[in-house]
Amino acid sequence: MASYLLLFGLLLATSSLALASDPSPLQDFCVADPDSKVLVNGVVCKDPQRVKADDFLFRGLQRMGNTSNDVGSNVTAVTVAELPGLNTLGISLARIDFAPWGINPPHTHPRATEILTVIEGSLLVGFVTSNPENRLFTKVLQKGDVFVFPQGLIHFQKNVGNGYSLAIAGLSSQNPGVITIANAVFGSNPDITGDILAKAFQVDEKIVYQIQSKF
Ligand SMILES: *[C@@H]1O[C@H](CO)[C@@H](O)[C@H](O)[C@H]1NC(C)=O
Ligand SMILES: *[C@@H]1O[C@H](CO)[C@@H](O)[C@H](O)[C@H]1NC(C)=O
Repeated sequence: MASYLLLFGLLLATSSLALASDPSPLQDFCVADPDSKVLVNGVVCKDPQRVKADDFLFRGLQRMGNTSNDVGSNVTAVTVAELPGLNTLGISLARIDFAPWGINPPHTHPRATEILTVIEGSLLVGFVTSNPENRLFTKVLQKGDVFVFPQGLIHFQKNVGNGYSLAIAGLSSQNPGVITIANAVFGSNPDITGDILAKAFQVDEKIVYQIQSKF
């Protein structure tokens, strides 16, 4: 009886782990067929006979993203949407450019852990743990330093230098997803009503409308 319970517990633990990240591939590759009308968890495989080397290639990460925007950063993502060969492989990449003192605002990736390295400049990085501690971990990274943001946790980066900064990040999902906190909370469509956000943030509704107007 006890061993059955143990087995059940183990099954429960492993299945919930598997559900929290991309499933493992069951064949060498399953190149995404973006034209398929079939909806599955992931993207339908292209006929393996029609797969070419180009399906595993993305060009263009040498190009800097345009950082002339409100936050002073730009993320160039290489996910399954840009690189079909990533389908079912549980991994993706991003280039992040920062203007001087620019930030990549607080956000989370619902499906991925992120490992980031600084190629140029210096970055203040941080993440916050879940409730109830909400502990903040931060570090200033120099060129060559590597930092990890655990799956699902809110994190951010800030260029703490007068020059441009560049980072490359690997993510443990073919489609990590991004939830930018400010945009999701204050820029949802339609708006979350002012009374809810006023109570949640413990401020006057007028302040909520002021913030909402920026998104
Ligand atoms: C990021 O850079 C690309 C390429 O320069 C540009 O097309 C895009 O609009 C930029 N995104 C933001 C949010 O500024
Ligand atoms: C960068 O984006 C800004 C704002 O959208 C635009 O005015 C500027 O021309 C862009 N720069 C380049 C090099 O594309």
